Amino acid sequence: MAKKKSKFLCNSCGYEAAKWMGRCPGCGEWNTMNEEVEVISKGPRGAFQHSSTTTKAIPIINVDTPEETRIVTQMNEFNRVLGGGIVPGSLVLIGGDPGIGKSTLLLQVSALLSNQGKRVLYISGEESVRQTKLRAERLGVKSPELYIYSETNLEFLNQTIEEVQPKFVIVDSIQTVHHPEVTSAPGSVSQVRECTAELMRIAKTKNIAIFLVGHVTKEGQIAGPRILEHMVDTVLYFEGERHHNHRILRSQKNRFGSTNEIAIFEMLHGGLKEVLNPSELFLQERSQGAPGSTIVASMEGTRPILVEIQSLVTPTSFNYPKRMATGVDQNRVQLLMAVLEKRMGMMLQAQDAYIKVAGGVKLDEPAIDLAVLTSVVSSFKDQAVRPTDCFIGEVGLTGEVRRVSRIEQRVQEAAKLGFKRAIIPASNIGGWEFPEGIQVVGVETISDSLKSSFRDL
Ligand code: TYD
Ligand code: MG
Repeated sequence: MAKKKSKFLCNSCGYEAAKWMGRCPGCGEWNTMNEEVEVISKGPRGAFQHSSTTTKAIPIINVDTPEETRIVTQMNEFNRVLGGGIVPGSLVLIGGDPGIGKSTLLLQVSALLSNQGKRVLYISGEESVRQTKLRAERLGVKSPELYIYSETNLEFLNQTIEEVQPKFVIVDSIQTVHHPEVTSAPGSVSQVRECTAELMRIAKTKNIAIFLVGHVTKEGQIAGPRILEHMVDTVLYFEGERHHNHRILRSQKNRFGSTNEIAIFEMLHGGLKEVLNPSELFLQERSQGAPGSTIVASMEGTRPILVEIQSLVTPTSFNYPKRMATGVDQNRVQLLMAVLEKRMGMMLQAQDAYIKVAGGVKLDEPAIDLAVLTSVVSSFKDQAVRPTDCFIGEVGLTGEVRRVSRIEQRVQEAAKLGFKRAIIPASNIGGWEFPEGIQVVGVETISDSLKSSFRDL
C-alpha cells in the first residue's frame, strides 16, 4: 500500500518543511514554499537500481588515477568551456532561455561525438523523434551511432541507457523528466531533485557523460530548485539576445576546470558556428571616434577579450539622477562616479548616466574600472578618446590605479588587434616584455590616465 505524505519545498533553495511558511527559513526568500504531495510506496526505494552498479569504499592509496581522459570534440570552443573536453562520468547542466539554441548545440555536439564512433543517446522529452530528426537533417547530421529517444519516464530512460550502452546521454530537458515513484508534477522541486540524483548515479556508476538541458525562468535562474546547480558537476549558461545572432556559452561552475570561461557562437541557418576571434566580433560595430566609447581588454576565464564600453552622460531632468548599467555592476559604476566627483572635481551630481557593454557581454572583474571611468568622462566632456587606445586597470577609492592580473595576455590581445596604445597600471610594468607595435603607458592615478586622453585636464 502506498502512503501519501504532504510536504512543502522551497523552489529557490530546496528547503523542506512540514507546514507552509511565508518565508523560507533556508534562504530567506518570500513566497517560495510550494506544497508537494508525495506517494511513498512500501518496499525498497529505487527498485530499478541494480546492485551490480553500486560502488564500494576503498582505501585512497588503492585508487587508480589513470591519465585524465577527456573526450575532445571537434568543437574547440565547447571543449574549452568544459575545461579541455568532456570528462567521462560527469553531469553537465546547460541552462538558457527557450529558443536560444540549447537543443541545436547539443545535437551538433552529439553529431560530432557519434561521428567519432562514440555512441550517443539523445533523449528528448520536449520534441518528438520526428522533430529531432528534422532538426538533425537541417544540421546535416547522419550517423548510425546517434540514437534518439522521446520519453520522459526516468525508469524507461534508465532501461534504454542499459540497452543502448551509450558513452554520452543528452536529457532535453530535466524539467520534463519524471521519477515514477515521486508523484508531484514534472518540473517540481522534488521531481527535479530526485531525477537529477538518479541521473548523477547513472553517470558516476556507468562512467557516462550526461548533459542536462535546463530552462531558465524570467529572473534568469534555472527553473526548479537552485539545488540542481549544486548537484551537478558543471553548469553552463547559453546566453545571447534573440535579435543578435551571436550566442555566448559561459561556464558558471566547473568541478573540472576554470569558471567564467566563455565560448562564442554564431547561429546560422545550418546551426551554430564557432567564433574563433571574439574580440573582432565585438569590435565590429564600434563607431570609432564617438564620445563615450572606450575599449577594455577583459579576462573571460583564461582568455582576454577586447570589448567596447559605452556611456551616455546627460543632464538630468529628475531630482535624482538616473544611473543605469548593463553588462557591468551598477554599484561599481556609482562608486567610480563618486571617485570622479571627489578626486577630479567633476560635477556629475546632476547628470544621468547610462553605461553599456556592447555585444551583450557581462564583465565582472575590477580590471574594467579604468575603461568604465574613462568612458563616463569621455561622454561627460563630449570628447572622444583615441580609437586605438585600450584601457586596463582597477580604480581605488583614492583615485589610484591598481594592478591587475594577467597584464601580458591582455596587452598582447590589444596589440594583436591593432591597438596602438595600452593605458595600464604603473605597478603592472616590469617583469614582462611589451609586445611589438603597441605603446604601453603606466599610470599611477586616474588623473594621470585622464590627462593622457583629454586635452583640458
Ligand atoms: P533551439 O535549439 O530549439 O533552442 P532551445 O533548445 O534553447 O529552446 O533553437 C531554436 C532557434 O534556433 C530557432 O529560433 C531556430 C534557430 N535555428 C537556427 O537559426 N539555425 C539552425 O540551424 C537551427 C537548428 C535552429
Ligand atoms: Mg530545446
